[in-house]
Amino acid sequence: MLKLGVNIDHVATVREARYRGRGFGEPCPVAAALLCEAAGAHGITAHLREDRRHIQDRDVWALREKIRTRLNLEMANAPEIVDLALKLKPEIVCLVPERRLEVTTEGGLDVVAAEKSLAETRKRLNGAGIEVSLFIAPDPGQIEAGARTGCQFVELHTGRFAEEFHNPAGDPRAAEAELQRLIAGAEQAHALGLQVNAGHGLNYENLSALCRVPHLVELNIGHSIVSRAVSVGLVPAVREMLAAMAAYGAS
Ligand code: PXP
Repeated sequence: MLKLGVNIDHVATVREARYRGRGFGEPCPVAAALLCEAAGAHGITAHLREDRRHIQDRDVWALREKIRTRLNLEMANAPEIVDLALKLKPEIVCLVPERRLEVTTEGGLDVVAAEKSLAETRKRLNGAGIEVSLFIAPDPGQIEAGARTGCQFVELHTGRFAEEFHNPAGDPRAAEAELQRLIAGAEQAHALGLQVNAGHGLNYENLSALCRVPHLVELNIGHSIVSRAVSVGLVPAVREMLAAMAAYGAS
């Protein structure tokens, strides 16, 4: 069964817009995570950025204590954050690139360039019982380098596919080409013994096309679920996404 990890950063973004630096305020990402779990989500994803623009340290500790599914900590391969992860012990860490000026995680990791350092971090995290995933574009060289680091998962970056899918002036062949890159990337990663997750920009409209990608274990979805929750509430928003994902692998 295709699993859903709900990314609750977007809840913290709303809180920080009003209460930045004050250590309190609503909405609470931990309360949101518990609602996602009650609705059937298989895991909770949170990105502790170096600039702490949304999720704060207190959030990840409270998530660690309160959630009952799996905590997927997205983070940069930066010494301060790696040390924190080793103490926090999420079930899985997804290493992502971070640029301070980006609105959200824009590209995949350059594993080819940072292979040695990523492999060292992978070893330290695995040594603490934490599985490791690398957020990468569906690029053959990056996937090969990812496998060489010894990580357990790759998370294929679906951002470009989502952009092309929703581009009103776009060419539908561009979205199809991106989908084919994801399909080939998933096949390659699976053949190399990696488990395959996917995420970024996935929503209620593009999900059925994305479901043509084979070997998927988990999708990490945030913005579209939190946006839908503004209209219908978080529990129905998560349930609708799970219902849309239930058809995965059926055909
Ligand atoms: N996966 C990763 C690695 C991400 O950085 C993000 C964005 O925070 C997501 C998944 C979720 O993306 P979205 O919010 O567009 O669903």
